[in-house]
Amino acid sequence: SDKLLTLLFVSLLATFSLLWGPEDTAVDLHILLLVSLPGCTPQRCGRAVTDSVVTREEAQVLRRLAERGLALAGSEGGASILDLHSGALSMGKQFVNIYRYFGDQIGDVFTQEDFQLYRDVRGRIQAVIAETFGLDPTLMYLTKPTFFSRINSTAAKTQHDEYWHPHIDKVTYGSFDYTSLLYLSDYGSDFSGGRFVFMDQNGNRTVEPRAGRVSFFSSGSENLHRVEKVTWGTRYAITVSFTCDPAHAISDPALP
Ligand SMILES: *[C@@H]1O[C@H](CO)[C@@H](O)[C@H](O)[C@H]1NC(C)=O
Ligand SMILES: *[C@@H]1O[C@H](CO)[C@@H](O)[C@H](O)[C@H]1NC(C)=O
Repeated sequence: SDKLLTLLFVSLLATFSLLWGPEDTAVDLHILLLVSLPGCTPQRCGRAVTDSVVTREEAQVLRRLAERGLALAGSEGGASILDLHSGALSMGKQFVNIYRYFGDQIGDVFTQEDFQLYRDVRGRIQAVIAETFGLDPTLMYLTKPTFFSRINSTAAKTQHDEYWHPHIDKVTYGSFDYTSLLYLSDYGSDFSGGRFVFMDQNGNRTVEPRAGRVSFFSSGSENLHRVEKVTWGTRYAITVSFTCDPAHAISDPALP
C-alpha cells in the first residue's frame, strides 16, 4: 500500500505538472512513465554523440563479429539483422534462430571474448547515458531487441528491409526509453548514404556514422528519425537500448 500511495502521489504531481504546462513537447509520455518508474524515467529529453566511449579497434572487433554472424545467412533485401540475445538472424525473407539452427557450431563463429566485449561496451554506453541524463545507471536495464545491422544498397524484398522510414523508437519498440547506436563502419569510405537523420520541426540534424561513434537519445517523439538509404558499400551498426521498466529487462547476450 506504501507503493500505491507513492504512485498516487506521483500521479497527482504528474497531473499538476500537466496542468501547469509542460515545457517539453514529449512530456506527456514521460509523465506516464514517471508514475511507476522514478530514478530512470526521462525527466529530460535529449540526444548526444560521442567518439570517446568505444575505440575504433573495439568497433573493428565487433564489426568482424557481425560479419562472421551475418555471413551465416542474411536477408535477400538490403537490410539484415543479427540479434545475439534472441538468436534472430535474417535469412532470405525470414529469420532463423542461430542458436537452434546452428547448434554447437555457433561456438566456432563467436567466442566468449566477443560476448565479453559486447557486455563491456554495453556497460560503458549505459554509464554515459546515465551521466548525460542524470540517471541512476542501476535503474536502467538492457531491453530487446538489441541487434547488429548490416545494410547495403540492394533493393528491399520485405518490410523488414525498409529501414529508411521515419519513426519513433518508443512507438516501434514499446520498451525503449533510451536508444543508442554504435557505428561499426565509416560513412564516406565504407559506404555512402546511410546517415542517421533526426527530423526536427526546424530542420534536420544528421549524424555521420564512423566506426566507434556512439549516438544516444531519449526514445520518445522528440527524437523522430530516419536512416538515409545506403547508396553503395556496406554499413554496420549495433542498436543497444535501455528501459526503465524491470519487467522489460533482458540479460546480456550469452553463448548457450
Ligand atoms: C548486399 O548483401 C547481400 C547479402 O545479404 C548480397 O547478396 C548482395 O549482393 C549485396 N549487394 C550489393 C550491392 O553488394
Ligand atoms: C528533412 O528531411 C525530410 C526527409 O528527408 C525532408 O522531406 C525535409 O524536407 C527535411 N526538412 C528540412 C527542413 O530540410
